[in-house]
Amino acid sequence: MAEIRIELTKNPKAKPADESNLGFGKIFTDHMFIMDYDTGMGWHDARIVPYGNIELSPAAMCLHYGQEVFEGLKAYRTSDGKIQLFRPQENFKRLNVSNERLVIPEIDVDFAVKALKELVEIEADWVPHTDGASLYIRPYIIAVDPFLGVRPGDKYLFMIILSPSGAYYSSGLNPVSIYVEQNYVRAVKGGMGFTKTGGNYAASLIGQNEAHKQNYSQVLWLDGVERKYIEEVGAMNIFFVIGDEVVTPSLQGSILSGITRKSVIELCNSWGLKVSERRISIDEIAEVYKNGMLKEVFGTGTAAVISPVGHLKWNDMVMEINDNKIGEISQRVYDTLTGIQYGKLEDTHGWITPVC
Ligand code: PLP
Ligand code: COI
Repeated sequence: MAEIRIELTKNPKAKPADESNLGFGKIFTDHMFIMDYDTGMGWHDARIVPYGNIELSPAAMCLHYGQEVFEGLKAYRTSDGKIQLFRPQENFKRLNVSNERLVIPEIDVDFAVKALKELVEIEADWVPHTDGASLYIRPYIIAVDPFLGVRPGDKYLFMIILSPSGAYYSSGLNPVSIYVEQNYVRAVKGGMGFTKTGGNYAASLIGQNEAHKQNYSQVLWLDGVERKYIEEVGAMNIFFVIGDEVVTPSLQGSILSGITRKSVIELCNSWGLKVSERRISIDEIAEVYKNGMLKEVFGTGTAAVISPVGHLKWNDMVMEINDNKIGEISQRVYDTLTGIQYGKLEDTHGWITPVC
């Protein structure tokens, strides 16, 4: 495995004094990981260096045609002071799924995990001590050739930056209000919806603005063809509890295969709950709401963890779910997942990678 060169900063920054007020993705640590790719050489020059601006040609291809992919995961501090990662291999495997779709060279998953562990160990003091806060990890790859023609790049940067963060939604575990988008679509099968690439998020901004104008915090996207089947939320997958069945949209190529989603399905299965991955139309949700069968709705994601949905607006219909309170299954999933992530519960699924 390639060596990682390490250059430590001579000017470490002060750590945030108030961990109750970190926000999300606003503060960055002292170091970052970088590795270069050149056609003919492959990935090379892996290094951990002081965090700082990077030099890019104004013609760098990622700036013009969006050839970039990213990931999001977290490092957690346990009550006995250890630091651990949640399913990091899954994130780097998914980065390779995104790489393939965007014609970016694949990375070595084991090497990426090793590099991440080294980086997090160097930044161990930046991992928050407060319950609910964690070190958000953002790996990403950009095409950097200075060239204005449309083709896959020959030069890339793979970087990892770290951000001590609190809750993604300021409401925390309080239910969020979600708006079903009718005019715009985020992705279609055959497109890039199953990848984590900036363009998907750029496509979602206009819907998010519309939701905010109507006092809703997030958008629930419908499928891009029939505008009928439920897909996912801006930064989360979505689950419904209908009667005694836990239901989530199946992976059809237009939504992200969330690692939290996968973990929630595994947990619910292990508890003997009935779990279905299938197509769910918005009409079905309105119908089960009307007949009292819609018990809970929650979103799942690394940044948001488990986010109960209290209100769901579709056209003129506003559905209030479970009296705008977190439901029993949502709470159990949240407690178990965060219990494992923060080392309070035994990791019986083999999801934890210790760092130090
Ligand atoms: N869907 C989208 C569009 C996302 O950005 C995210 C966040 O990463 C998710 C779903 C949830 O994925 P994960 O649970 O792997 O974080
Ligand atoms: C994550 O949950 O890790 C995400 O990447 C969501 C992000 C778009 C903020």
